[in-house]
Amino acid sequence: MSGDWKRPWGDDPRIARALELLQQVATDQQQDLQRVQPADPRRVSAYDERLKQFAELRGGGLYYPYLATGRGNGPWVELGDGSVKLDFISGIGVHGAGHGDAGLRAAGIEAAMLDTVMQGNLQQFDVAVDLCQRLVDLACESGADLRHVTLSTSGAMANENALKLAFHHGPGRPRLVAFEHCFAGRTLALSQLTDKAAYRVGLPPTLSVDYLPFFDTNDPAGSTGRTLAALETIVARYPQQHAAIWVELIQGEGGYNVGDTNFLRLLSQRARDAGMVVIFDEVQTFGRTTRPFAFQHFGLDDLVDVVTIGKISQACATLYRPAFKPGPGLISQTFTAGTWEILAALEILDRFDSIGSFGAGGRNQRIHERFSSGLEKLAEQYPGSISGPWGIGGMLALTPLDGSAAVAKRLAELCFEEGLMGFVAGAEPTRLRFLPPLLVVTDEQIDEALRLLEQALVRLLAEQKK
Ligand SMILES: Cc1ncc(COP(=O)(O)O)c(C=O)c1O
Repeated sequence: MSGDWKRPWGDDPRIARALELLQQVATDQQQDLQRVQPADPRRVSAYDERLKQFAELRGGGLYYPYLATGRGNGPWVELGDGSVKLDFISGIGVHGAGHGDAGLRAAGIEAAMLDTVMQGNLQQFDVAVDLCQRLVDLACESGADLRHVTLSTSGAMANENALKLAFHHGPGRPRLVAFEHCFAGRTLALSQLTDKAAYRVGLPPTLSVDYLPFFDTNDPAGSTGRTLAALETIVARYPQQHAAIWVELIQGEGGYNVGDTNFLRLLSQRARDAGMVVIFDEVQTFGRTTRPFAFQHFGLDDLVDVVTIGKISQACATLYRPAFKPGPGLISQTFTAGTWEILAALEILDRFDSIGSFGAGGRNQRIHERFSSGLEKLAEQYPGSISGPWGIGGMLALTPLDGSAAVAKRLAELCFEEGLMGFVAGAEPTRLRFLPPLLVVTDEQIDEALRLLEQALVRLLAEQKK
């Protein structure tokens, strides 16, 4: 059970009994979900109707024909047509404990016993203090000075808050520096920061952003030099105009491009020297490298001013140095986090510890090694079919064939048909990426994912020959 917070029901034995019974029911009814299953033909037409209804209501179809029944078991999830998929995308990194997790369920049952569904700035839940303290302690554990934190309900909101802190700190600096192919979210401001034209069609230009090329693993020294030179040019063109440098240490939506300590350090330091706030967007990377925060993995503790987290943490947050403490009212929200989210976040932090996610040789690293060595074998077995692996820790990707968007999308679809869920990332090349549920996935399930991927790849290669 998550944390040792003071439960209003104390040690009332009825709660323990009720929890036990509910856990038994849930465990019983998810036991049969242990492998990929095809759709039940008797359920297919009703399911298709449901998907059509949803597409109509939301003004567009879903990427995958995925509507879950609510039954799941680790990485296995049941859809409304009766099919069972191996979920290696986890809601794009959210379901780190997979589906039907007993620890998160206990957190949810306890949350349901509390007085409100949501928590907000005006009326806060006592346990939010514990979560904030845990996040600050983790962030500061190897020397960063991120002593403050504000919770929020989405990665985008955590990022909006980070931007506000930066602009508030250095008024009169309206511009930002960011990296090509970055993704920061989809609010009006973040759509301008995110380097993807399609996501800002018709939207007003809320922010002025100057982009730098990201680290190129094929040319470490050359790319570091070029990007530093590009930063100098930008700084000279707009002296004292940049409030912040915005960095994803490992680009997520941009294609699982991994930064490099030297590159990230030199760029962040130079930006800081030019008066910029150093912001790391860890909404996707939090909990996925050899350390809780990727900035710790890269040893950038001394350089971080503001960091944002989300997805696997269940509750999202913006952490910042004391110098960035906002004035009253600058950052406030009706919803800061759901009650279950707060308890779930604590459970996730506990689980990182209990399964040994971090460290060299920690679970994240071992998951990476097993999956990527499988990808390497596939690349040898089917020469020219895939390249990579890309990514780090619990972020894994491959580039199929020529890396065109159409081919990557097709491979994702074929994987889905075979029962494996991944998702595309990046453009030129477009990759197929995986975010397995790091806290529960087994080695056997990784091997099964590779087997399903191989089946999909064989079908892709056959289609390409036609
Ligand atoms: C790096 C990064 N930042 C921000 C976001 C936005 O988070 P959310 O979708 O929760 O608003 C995402 C989501 O994919 C992300 O990957």
